[in-house]
Amino acid sequence: MSEIAYDDLLACAVEAAQAAGNYARDQKHRVDDVKVSFEHDIKLALDFECQQKAREVLLSAFPGHTVLGEEDPEIVDTDEMPEHQWVVDPIDGTVNFSHGMPFWCCSIAVRKKGETVAGAVYGPDVNELYTATVDRKSTCNGEPISVSETQTLDKAMIMTGVDQFVDPSLPPFAIFKSFASNAQKVRVMGSAALDICRVANGAADGYFEAGIYLWDVAAAQLIVEQAGGKAEILYDMPPPYRICFAASNGRIHDQLTSLVDISSLQEWKG
Ligand code: IPD
Repeated sequence: MSEIAYDDLLACAVEAAQAAGNYARDQKHRVDDVKVSFEHDIKLALDFECQQKAREVLLSAFPGHTVLGEEDPEIVDTDEMPEHQWVVDPIDGTVNFSHGMPFWCCSIAVRKKGETVAGAVYGPDVNELYTATVDRKSTCNGEPISVSETQTLDKAMIMTGVDQFVDPSLPPFAIFKSFASNAQKVRVMGSAALDICRVANGAADGYFEAGIYLWDVAAAQLIVEQAGGKAEILYDMPPPYRICFAASNGRIHDQLTSLVDISSLQEWKG
């Protein structure tokens, strides 16, 4: 069987991200159609419908591939890596979307035997399409992008996020406090995939979050790396696919991660 070209995988990721993202944008009037509501989070009917839109595009192009989506009813963790696995977050930033904030996107990555080889992040309301393949430089709306030149944390813009289960007395907030005292500015914009792409295009210098999920970061991780930055899963958290993650322009990476007290996070476990 011949290898599928990375460009073909990327074209499919873009098509699926645009199908899902444009569908969400066009159906915005349905934000009150809530499937599940939590104290600090929400799942809309549109989250599930957009995942279905993306899945249809992906599987009609590549019927034998598997799809791991945020809204999959059954997520099975397995050590056996599929040959090709698509990782989909149909609406990253659902709470923003539900409030009419423009920072939300559709994120789609494809992993070959566990390694991400292509990814697309599409933000319809901000009109940004980020792409990367493992053998090519990242782009935004077709133009090459690069991480910032910022050398030190005190001059850096750090983006972060808090997942729905985090109580302000817990370790993630102590880390937030530490970033706030050491960086030039900390921002919480509410769509991790778009935020990490802002690290890729140099508008921000770093991203950190404990308790984020693989589908939030899979495409953006490759995009930041192929823009010259560094990204890493610091450790795996329970349940499956939940991680502690950092990304940066590379230059401030050690300064950023040195503020993360991993042992306090591991004790907390999320
Ligand atoms: C969320 C957003 C948010 C991050 C949360 C994620 P979702 O994704 O990316 O910025 O802080 O941890 O869960 O739930 O809107 O897809």
